Amino acid sequence: MTGPEDLASWRALTALSAQEGRVPKACSGPMRLGTGGLLMDFSRQRVDDEVIDTLLTLADESGLQSAIEDLFEGRIVNASEGRPALHAAIRAPRDERPAAVAEVIEAEQERMFDLARRVRDGRLRGATGKPFSTVVHIGIGGSRLGPELAVRALGGELEIRFLSNVDGTAAIRTFMHLDPNETLVVVASKSFETLETMSNARYARSWLLERTGDADAVGQHFIAVTANTDAARRFGIPEYHCLAMWDWVGGRYSLWSAVGLPIALALGEAGFRELADGAHHMDRHFRTSPPAESLPAMLALLGIWNSNFLGASTHAVLAYDRRLSVLPQFLQQLEMESNGKSVRNDGQRSGVSTAPVIWGGEETDGQHAFHQLLHQGTRTFSSDFIAVVDPGHDLADQHRWLIANCLGQGQAMLAGAPLEDVSSDAPHRAVTGNHPSTTILLDRLDGRNLGMLLALYEHKVFCQSVIWRINPFDQWGVELGKRLADRVYDALGTGSADTVDASTASLVRAFKSRSG
Ligand code: F6P
Repeated sequence: MTGPEDLASWRALTALSAQEGRVPKACSGPMRLGTGGLLMDFSRQRVDDEVIDTLLTLADESGLQSAIEDLFEGRIVNASEGRPALHAAIRAPRDERPAAVAEVIEAEQERMFDLARRVRDGRLRGATGKPFSTVVHIGIGGSRLGPELAVRALGGELEIRFLSNVDGTAAIRTFMHLDPNETLVVVASKSFETLETMSNARYARSWLLERTGDADAVGQHFIAVTANTDAARRFGIPEYHCLAMWDWVGGRYSLWSAVGLPIALALGEAGFRELADGAHHMDRHFRTSPPAESLPAMLALLGIWNSNFLGASTHAVLAYDRRLSVLPQFLQQLEMESNGKSVRNDGQRSGVSTAPVIWGGEETDGQHAFHQLLHQGTRTFSSDFIAVVDPGHDLADQHRWLIANCLGQGQAMLAGAPLEDVSSDAPHRAVTGNHPSTTILLDRLDGRNLGMLLALYEHKVFCQSVIWRINPFDQWGVELGKRLADRVYDALGTGSADTVDASTASLVRAFKSRSG
């Protein structure tokens, strides 16, 4: 079996990357692509026509176009779990969905919108007859990040709090000062078994019961979003308050399903549909455009060029808009949980690096913290700058400064300030530059453009997985940590420390001796 490194295009790219001095001006074509209200500018990438042509050949030799069809046609693209990945089907119009899932998606969306409508207009009330004023959404990973990103970005009428970690302080603070009679709890967990989510759900249940003294209140104040309805029912959530998730939608691709209930609660059906329509617009663009004109494919190929050929082992997501504060975290899960793999689809170890470390921050805060390392450190990295043209407020001068900083940082990262440009007695002022970046501009931050942005990254990840020949839709690597935590949990109680290694056992003893 072969890996991507055996392709002629991969070898050609290796040779090209060994050449010195590739600069963007060597490119003859336009260095930007756009669709709808989204523009992707890659004029700050270290590529020229030859690199781009060879990257496109790599896409071709990797069978990208037929892989895209497999994805949209609902074929098994998640081989280790024997499943298709149908997140794009959920946001497609009814008549464009694969027939096997068209009805079930429609029915479940209608149930979600109906629930959201009744909460929003006050028909669905708590046990004492009060309408709900606050929603606490309990879920982790994909069962939290997508909905939280959308709600923080787009706002909405209801107060929505998100609780994910198993840290008790987080649980206590989330529920602090809330009126239990007006609080609706959504428990989103595909498995309904995840440690953090179930611990927090149990805390929420006792918080509610202690304050209302009403054992039936759970049925009225809790909604489950899960593929494991039996477990939700055993927890005390009646079936009419259980919305379905499906095994053909991965956790980190699930905000388009009923996991997005907080979005429908905050923005209503129209707001949710706008987001989904934006994502669908990107789906269509992705499915019908040749790679040279496809935003997701180009973003993926540039990422491969930077990480596999120019040596960027980290990629920074730099969001220049407060409303996108959750984006770096969302993309961290999307990219690293999807493509953080080292075994190929054919079972062989990958001979090339796969996903880089994704990290990031928001706005100019980063410039006063970690950008120093980006400008003058010794690491190789790439980055995406994401900014919004219309700030949605009238502080025009502040917005101009924000954008000036965003665009200026990209310039500094590429051009730098070479030693010859700074005075010879101040070498510490030199800025290396040569760090590639892509700038993504949204005309405005509405549901449609946000939906497009998220689908852009989802498909970028898919394209890269095709080229690396790995499965982006499973996440077996997280299982070991869960198993070990179970053993350590026992050892921290009355269980034996023999099941853990020597250093863990000594840490367990240190913890126990200090906790009295
Ligand atoms: O981190 C592993 C993971 O399975 C993610 O893929 C998922 O988004 C998260 O845990 C939550 O899982 P669940 O929805 O089953 O609670």
